Amino acid sequence: MDIRFDGKTILVTGSASGIGRGIATEFAASGGNVAVADINLEGARKTAAELESAHGIRALPVHADVTRKASVQDMSARVMERFGRIDVLINNAGVTLSYPLVEFPEDKWDLTLGINLKGYFLVAQAVVPHLIAGGRGGVIVNIASKTGLRGSADNSAYSASKGGVVIMSQGWCREFAKHQIRVNCVCPGNVLYGSGSWSDEYKRACARKLGIPVEDVEKFYIDQVPLKRPCSIQDVANLAVFLASDRAAYITGCAYLVDGGQEMR
Ligand SMILES: NC(=O)c1ccc[n+]([C@@H]2O[C@H](COP(=O)([O-])OP(=O)(O)OC[C@H]3O[C@@H](n4cnc5c(N)ncnc54)[C@H](O)[C@@H]3O)[C@@H](O)[C@H]2O)c1
Repeated sequence: MDIRFDGKTILVTGSASGIGRGIATEFAASGGNVAVADINLEGARKTAAELESAHGIRALPVHADVTRKASVQDMSARVMERFGRIDVLINNAGVTLSYPLVEFPEDKWDLTLGINLKGYFLVAQAVVPHLIAGGRGGVIVNIASKTGLRGSADNSAYSASKGGVVIMSQGWCREFAKHQIRVNCVCPGNVLYGSGSWSDEYKRACARKLGIPVEDVEKFYIDQVPLKRPCSIQDVANLAVFLASDRAAYITGCAYLVDGGQEMR
């Protein structure tokens, strides 16, 4: 893709690992300076160092707990101090916790909504004033999920959080268009490899839900996909980078599946 972000600053939450790390890498490969924000500061430092040495850009590791307003305000202030501008926000930090409805622990519901929905709100609240003050417009890409477009069983909190992100993004599209700030969602399918979401615990929960052995869980989900492979981190990163680029200058308020046709059944 001939898309460049030279001189621009991209802030990616949850980018110490998994999908966020892959997205930060793709922006760095396209010349952008990247703020690697994560609750895991050690991981953020490692990712940032790798991006700087591999791509010759500037990368800032920054601690952020997206559930805490003071923490994300501090995060955006640090990014502004280091780079003097923010052009793109990728809201990505998230968790996946699966329980049947009647067993769903209240604290796990609060944790999921706190990170996946309120976290996106708090981070945008901290970053959007800088996008507006910069006077150059800007882009927000919210990483939602296919589960934000069609709920899945044993996933009350995750489904609610991701559906909330999709609708909240539509509201932001209308709210910020006057500042030339575009807002879109990426809705990935099952990123089975390289992401923390598909932990052993989550796979066991899927096996229980589906009534199949845990060894068969990956095959079960791959079989649902017409393209017969799981979503890769690179698939998600490609779409996020495209939506953040000027190639997508007329696209706002949309939620795009990247799922190999899984939801088209
Ligand atoms: N993996 C999938 O199949 C899949 C599918 C659709 C959507 N998603 C979404 O992609 C995003 C990334 O998920 P992933 O699979 O890469 O997970 P992951 O666990 O690999 O990465 C999540 C990152 O977020 C960070 N994080 C967690 N809580 C945080 C907090 N309070 N503040 C700041 N950072 C925090 C973690 O430290 C980690 O680096 C999530 O929003 C997830 O819902 C994942």
